Amino acid sequence: MTQKILVLPGDGIGPEITAQASRILAACQARGLDVEVEEGLLGGAAYDVHGEPLPAETLEKAKAARGILLGAVGGPKWDRIEDLAKRPEKGLLGVRKQLGLFGNLRPAITYPQLAEASSLKRELVAGLDIMIVRELTGGIYFGQPRGIEERDGQRVGFNTYVYSESEIERIGRVAFEMAQKRGKKLCSVDKANVLEVTILWREVMERLAPEYPDVELSHMYVDNAAMQLVRAPKQFDVVVTGNMFGDILSDAAAMLTGSIGMLPSASLNESGQGMYEPCHGSAPDIAGQNVANPLATILSVAMMLRYSFDAPALARQIEEAVGKVLDDGLRTADIASEGTRTVSTREMGDAVLAAFEAL
Ligand code: NAD
Ligand code: IPM
Ligand code: MN
Repeated sequence: MTQKILVLPGDGIGPEITAQASRILAACQARGLDVEVEEGLLGGAAYDVHGEPLPAETLEKAKAARGILLGAVGGPKWDRIEDLAKRPEKGLLGVRKQLGLFGNLRPAITYPQLAEASSLKRELVAGLDIMIVRELTGGIYFGQPRGIEERDGQRVGFNTYVYSESEIERIGRVAFEMAQKRGKKLCSVDKANVLEVTILWREVMERLAPEYPDVELSHMYVDNAAMQLVRAPKQFDVVVTGNMFGDILSDAAAMLTGSIGMLPSASLNESGQGMYEPCHGSAPDIAGQNVANPLATILSVAMMLRYSFDAPALARQIEEAVGKVLDDGLRTADIASEGTRTVSTREMGDAVLAAFEAL
């Protein structure tokens, strides 16, 4: 049966970058990928039309799709919506939760051609290849109770950081299995010196370890992990952590690769259905200017083909095409350095497509 892909361009630079990724997707169809592609509304774009960030129609399409490609959601236009449930970001969180996309893979790979674009010294980042495994449907993002309320004559804001053993175990297994396929090192990041929820997290990771005897498990506090990521990032192979720590650490890891515009991601559930998106946001400061880097989104298509469509050969071709374009010295503004040629979003898409078609 022909499977479905849903493209959700979203807000800000979202439509610009997904347009380029969609061209690559079409080229994959021409090369035999048997999929049906449709578009939908999410985030601010959906709010403007339907008054809500995740319309029922979009959720239905998302459930029916094997793979979802998302640009990004949010922006200043919607930041003042009083009802938090109607904010664009809630639409994204809703898709993650409703589809059970708990396993978020965020690979930070420094292409050798881009070592100069990183804000760190070349020798620290050249050859870097880390995989951050972030829990995506639990933790402080979803914990109850939450809110802002009146207490003793003033307002207090509160959230709940909660993980059950089963939630920790299932993300732990994703991470251990990932480590087995890679460098066999797993670093679990927590705050077990302060927070009970992460004392439990550490216990569960330890309990799983004997089932993966070939993987070396270590633990690190999140503050130290943030420091170690910029001090000596190549010490890491796979990192596993909770929802909020993973959000923060993956943005930090992005700069190791040269730009947040280079970081793709996969968010998977137990049946291999997945949402694929760049790790960055809607970049309102550069939206509509045709300057955003589309490579993270294009590389997210490669992840989709690998993890949801079992088409690793096509995935590799996309990655190879991106490598070729970087070899040729083409750069969007965020990754430009001396001696490179700065191109627009659309020109970068043209170049990757041409390189892909030449393979
Ligand atoms: P951001 O990632 O959108 O932007 C941070 C900086 O990185 C900006 O200077 C931006 O220009 C730059 N940048 C991001 N993507 C780029 C690209 N592809 N090419 C070149 N430069 C790029 O983060 P922010 O400014 O904190 O958030 C803006 C909006 O995006 C907010 O509404 C936020 O909630 C939302 N957001 C959405 C997602 C998502 O949809 N997954 C992720 C993060 C933030
Ligand atoms: C991300 C984003 C989202 C998150 C926001 C927009 C809800 O920052 O995908 O990294 O915090 O997960
Ligand atoms: Mn983020």
